[in-house]
Amino acid sequence: MDDKIKGRYTEGDYLDKNPTWHEEDSAWKARHVLEMLSRNDLHPASVCEVGCGAGEILNQLYSEMPDNVTFTGYDISPQAHELSRQKAKERLQFLLKDLMEEDKPVSYTHLTLPTKRIV
Ligand SMILES: C[S@@+](CC[C@H](N)C(=O)[O-])C[C@H]1O[C@@H](n2cnc3c(N)ncnc32)[C@H](O)[C@@H]1O
Repeated sequence: MDDKIKGRYTEGDYLDKNPTWHEEDSAWKARHVLEMLSRNDLHPASVCEVGCGAGEILNQLYSEMPDNVTFTGYDISPQAHELSRQKAKERLQFLLKDLMEEDKPVSYTHLTLPTKRIV
């Protein structure tokens, strides 16, 4: 990723302009993910959000999905991670990391971007 674009998220500018990191929209976004899973009869064992921001979408999914599902959020922003890590639980982890820079293979049964299923 271009360093200038990356810097927007990592240097504090994004937090200045978006102090809630869009947390207020999370329930709406989580509801759409749940509807998508239901409509396609999908029952993932693990859910990963790349660019999880404040982590509230995963937190909402954690509350609504079965208690055998694990959740992982990746974000490159230290400011976002500061917000998300407070929501971490045994099956809900937040990593201050770019998924593309993981040094070991990762496997998730359901990988989401805010609006797009990847695998
Ligand atoms: C527009 S915010 C969306 C946050 C959240 N998904 C939501 O919908 O509320 C985009 C997020 O993606 C993160 N991001 C951008 N590039 C990333 C990358 N390569 N890996 C992980 N996170 C990234 C940013 O730091 C930012 O928190």
